[in-house]
Amino acid sequence: MFGHERIELKTPDQVRVMRRAGLVVADALAAVRDEVRPGMTTADLDAIAAAVIAAAGATPSFLGYDGYPATVCVSVNDEVVHGIPGPRVLEPGDVVSVDCGAIVDGWHGDSALTVVLADADPADVALSDAAERAMWAGIAALATSDRLGAVGEAVEDVVDATDTALNGGARYGVVEEYVGHGIGTAMHQPPDVLNYRARARGARVRPGLCVAVEPMLTRGTQATQVLEDDWTVVTADGSRAAHWEHTVAVLESGIWVLTARDGGASRLAELGVAVAPLD
Ligand code: MF3
Ligand code: CO
Repeated sequence: MFGHERIELKTPDQVRVMRRAGLVVADALAAVRDEVRPGMTTADLDAIAAAVIAAAGATPSFLGYDGYPATVCVSVNDEVVHGIPGPRVLEPGDVVSVDCGAIVDGWHGDSALTVVLADADPADVALSDAAERAMWAGIAALATSDRLGAVGEAVEDVVDATDTALNGGARYGVVEEYVGHGIGTAMHQPPDVLNYRARARGARVRPGLCVAVEPMLTRGTQATQVLEDDWTVVTADGSRAAHWEHTVAVLESGIWVLTARDGGASRLAELGVAVAPLD
């Protein structure tokens, strides 16, 4: 999609502004994660995130993007990404992916998480856990590799290594039709960040690169379809899906996860990666 276009490399000061945007997104998603319950509507989740972003004096980046009508995307069960919040009432055991973006002083942050509501099917929890671990492995690859292709390889390595007994032994689908992206003065910039294993080595990983890493896994195949609303992406086979995303900066001294309160330190330490000091 962005092939050979110019990549916007950020200065450390610009990365620090992006962190302010990232932490607004982190706070909005934390509020949604804390408050989401069966009986709420997906529009309720949108209102929670919108209130946090407004209170921070930030701007929601999704609202009005290509005519998108809400602050967050809420994608439930077989919905993969870009679900539009509305009157849908959440039920026990639902798999709820929430994606949020915000702008501070012209700089963007973008992150997503998946919550499996109480009375969960353990197989759905395992799916979301695998997607989250795949995301962290993809992020860690930015610290250990010099090509972006390592992100998708790390994602697929996690999927390959995951015990799928709870999924009837079937390997998770790794969605290829939607990818991660550069981010900075716009939400979507070059380069593409493939969340799957591909032939291309990908763009060079170097200081100043800021990207969103966002794997989507399904309990079935990777095939997706877009609903009549022209936004909501669902799995073609009706299987449930999970989506996790963080915005990450590559600095001279290492990486920093801009949409995580601790910069990703705790999860990356488990993978043997130390984060760069940003202050
Ligand atoms: N956050 C999504 C992404 O990661 C984009 C949402 S599309 C929008 O690329 F229209 F809702 F903004
Ligand atoms: Co994104």
